[in-house]
Amino acid sequence: MNTLFLLLLVLLFSKDFSGVDGKKWKGEGTTPNLDSIIIGRCYEYIRTVNPAVGEKNCSELLEAFKKAFMNKDPCNILPSDYELFINLSQHSIPPNKSLFWENNQFLVSSYAARTRRYMPLGDTLIGAFGDLLNWCGQANNTEVDDSCPTTEECENNAVESFWRIASINYAKQSSGIIHVMLNGSAAGGAYPVKGFFADFEIPNLQKERISQIEIWVMDDIGGPDLDSCGKGSVKILEARLKEMGYDITCIDNYKSVLFLLCLDHPDHPSCPVVSNKDCLKIWETLQDAFMYKNPCNITTDDYQPLMDLARHPVPCNKSLFWSKTNELVHRYTKVDHNFLTLEDTLLGYIADQVSWCGDPASPGINYESCPKWTECESNPSTVYWKMASKMFAEEACGVVQVMLNGSIDAGAFRSSSIFGSVEIFNLDPNKVSTIQIWLMHNIGGPKRDSCTGYSITRLKSILEERNFIVSCEDNYRPVWLFQCASEPGHEDCRLCFCGVQ
Ligand SMILES: *[C@@H]1O[C@H](CO)[C@@H](O)[C@H](O)[C@H]1NC(C)=O
Ligand SMILES: *[C@@H]1O[C@H](CO)[C@@H](O)[C@H](O)[C@H]1NC(C)=O
Ligand SMILES: *[C@@H]1O[C@H](CO)[C@@H](O)[C@H](O)[C@H]1NC(C)=O
Ligand SMILES: *[C@@H]1O[C@H](CO)[C@@H](O)[C@H](O)[C@H]1NC(C)=O
Ligand SMILES: *[C@@H]1O[C@H](CO)[C@@H](O)[C@H](O)[C@H]1NC(C)=O
Ligand SMILES: *[C@@H]1O[C@H](CO)[C@@H](O)[C@H](O)[C@H]1NC(C)=O
Ligand SMILES: *[C@@H]1O[C@H](CO)[C@@H](O)[C@H](O)[C@H]1NC(C)=O
Ligand SMILES: *[C@@H]1O[C@H](CO)[C@@H](O)[C@H](O)[C@H]1NC(C)=O
Repeated sequence: MNTLFLLLLVLLFSKDFSGVDGKKWKGEGTTPNLDSIIIGRCYEYIRTVNPAVGEKNCSELLEAFKKAFMNKDPCNILPSDYELFINLSQHSIPPNKSLFWENNQFLVSSYAARTRRYMPLGDTLIGAFGDLLNWCGQANNTEVDDSCPTTEECENNAVESFWRIASINYAKQSSGIIHVMLNGSAAGGAYPVKGFFADFEIPNLQKERISQIEIWVMDDIGGPDLDSCGKGSVKILEARLKEMGYDITCIDNYKSVLFLLCLDHPDHPSCPVVSNKDCLKIWETLQDAFMYKNPCNITTDDYQPLMDLARHPVPCNKSLFWSKTNELVHRYTKVDHNFLTLEDTLLGYIADQVSWCGDPASPGINYESCPKWTECESNPSTVYWKMASKMFAEEACGVVQVMLNGSIDAGAFRSSSIFGSVEIFNLDPNKVSTIQIWLMHNIGGPKRDSCTGYSITRLKSILEERNFIVSCEDNYRPVWLFQCASEPGHEDCRLCFCGVQ
């Protein structure tokens, strides 16, 4: 009985005063030297980072900040306890400078560049008080604590309540074009439906002062692409903001932030190597290839310098080849950024829909007419596209896809096409594992060819001989749904709600 009593006493003691590892709370304690850090940050902010806020008494602000939580039960701090502090330290956020975010704090702060580019909450005076710091007080004790409650332990803790009122105030001050940076590689989705942005910022935006909301969904370089514009949780966010009447745009892997991410991964295929290609240089090199030359006597040597200059890697699993599906495939890659056609690469993009040829006489370029493929095969366009296609095939890796046309008479696969004569022979079996064929029919037919048809069987055997794994899908569903989106009324597009009818 004595032992039991002692044990109980020990348990009670440890629970009340020291916790399991000697600390009262599970969260990190108050950051050491909190006062000095805050005073330093505050003066640095008003003197060098953003002198536009004007004169402030930083000791007075620190006093107001600490008054919110010192000497108080750390589980009973409300956002309103910081009201005086907020009133004293608030300043205006210039229009177009607000940047909201979730799950990418460090990327946001380096992109914002301490208010020079954008002014996210962490780059306001209020944010400077809390950024990366931790704090809490104790009931009936004028000391800060060396452990603080987490939000799981109690919601009304000093740090959580601070960021709630800071977020609310920040949203209210925002105007013009609002930017939101989300993490497309975050496990729980890019837009947490419960979070500071969802719960405290969106509801406090002042609609009449906001012209547009631009969302950027950034995937980690080499990280998974779990969420994108129009998909998953981002779709939920877009719908919510639209319903509230906002004019929104959404951009996947916004280029200028992508450059920043690429600083640490300069050679990764997702990094836009295009950026260091000099467009003028490319144009000059292209001119050198054909100007003053016989337009029927262009060789691969003529284009080699251009190809070397403009070549860039294509991320694995993204290459999408095509034949006789020109219009559909390009409409499709515009919306589904998981795939790239040759025309979406630099070499394809600069030449798409244009034609050019030289003239041995001055000015060296023939603006009137150029030889067609049937007139002479070694013309500037044909040679160019064959080389660019070869290069595109050489760059492919992982799983590649090809979109073929099952509605043409001659068969979906033709060995005389660029795909059949150039691309399939330049795929590297050491880099490419699998080839997925999407055999698309026109909505409404005709259905001339299928995965089991003669031409596809021949394509399969050519590829299998080269050690690729081949699969084929008739009317690959995502593309088929996309086709149906433009002809929703067509009887081929009636969806089967099995069992519901
Ligand atoms: C700044 O605020 C502190 C604390 O409230 C006060 O003691 C001090 O006099 C103020 N300084 C000025 C220059 O107003
Ligand atoms: C903060 O400012 C608001 C608006 O000016 C005012 O209504 C409120 O009483 C102020 N609160 C404190 C604690 O000073
Ligand atoms: C905000 O951006 C819009 C659109 O780019 C522009 O018209 C406006 O002048 C900008 N406002 C400021 C204050 O820069
Ligand atoms: C995005 O989220 C992932 C998963 O949580 C994380 O590892 C990554 O660091 C985040 N990216 C950025 C830029 O913060
Ligand atoms: C703090 O002091 C007050 C008044 O003396 C008392 O009512 C309260 O129970 C104390 N709280 C704690 C946690 O000790
Ligand atoms: C075609 O070009 C090659 C190499 O530039 C040259 O040797 C040949 O004479 C040219 N032929 C014609 C018909 O211009
Ligand atoms: C490419 O796809 C394969 C098979 O689905 C997968 O195992 C691989 O991780 C993917 N690679 C990239 C870079 O996404
Ligand atoms: C198939 O080819 C025909 C003729 O070129 C074209 O009109 C049609 O749009 C193509 N179908 C698909 C699915 O791309």
